Amino acid sequence: MGAIVVTGVPGVGKTTVMNAAAEAKKLKIVVFGTVMFEIASKAHKVKSRDEMRKLPPETQKQVQRQAAREIAYLGDVIVDTHCTVRTPKGYLPGLPAWVLESLKPSVIVLVEAEPTEIFGRRARDATRERDTENVQDIARHQELNRAAAMAYATLTGATVKVVFNHDNRVQEAIQQILPVVQ
Ligand code: AP5
Repeated sequence: MGAIVVTGVPGVGKTTVMNAAAEAKKLKIVVFGTVMFEIASKAHKVKSRDEMRKLPPETQKQVQRQAAREIAYLGDVIVDTHCTVRTPKGYLPGLPAWVLESLKPSVIVLVEAEPTEIFGRRARDATRERDTENVQDIARHQELNRAAAMAYATLTGATVKVVFNHDNRVQEAIQQILPVVQ
C-alpha cells in the first residue's frame, strides 16, 4: 500500500487530527520528527526537536535520510511529517527523492487551517520553542506546502488530500481524514 503521509505547518494540529483518526482505525503512527530527534540527539547533541531546524541543511538531510530508512522498515504506517521545513537558510524539502524512495507514499495529506488560527495556536502552546512567524509568513508556508505536495505526488503517483482543521472543529477534520486511512 505504501505510507500515508500527513503534513502541515507546525501547530496546524496534524498530530491532534491524526491521533484521533488512527485510534478509530487502529493504525500505527510514526512521527518523523521524533525519529529524527532520536538520531540527532545522539549524533549532533541537539536538546530539543525545535533545535533540529537550526542544524546545517546538510546535517538535517543526513538525519532525514537515516530516519526515512528506519521508518521504511516498519511497513505500512501513517507518517506525521512536513512538506517543507523552515530553516534559517531557507525552506528544506521534507520529502526529497531519498525520502520518497523509502516511504513510497500512496497518499499525501495536507492539514490546513486559517493562518490566523495557526498563529493563535502557536501563541497558546508554551511547550515548544516555535519560530516567530507572522500571519503572512504562515500563509506563505502553507502555499509552498501545497506546491511541494503536488511535486511529490507527480514523482510518486500519490494522491494529495487537503483536510481543513478549523478552530474547535477537530471532529470535522477527522471526518475528512477517515476515508484516507480506511
Ligand atoms: P514535529 O514534531 O512534527 O513538530 P511540529 O510540526 O511542530 O508538530 P506539532 O506536533 O507541534 O504540531 P502539530 O501540527 O502536530 O499540531 P498539534 O496537533 O500539536 O517536527 C519536529 C521537527 O522535526 C521539525 O521542526 C523538523 O525540524 C523535523 N522534521 C519533521 N519531519 C521532517 C522531514 N520530513 N524532513 C526534515 N525535518 C523534519 O496542535 C497544536 C495545538 O493546536 C495544540 O495545542 C492543539 O490542542 C491545538 N489544536 C489542534 N487542532 C485544534 C482545533 N481544531 N481547534 C483548536 N485547537 C486545536
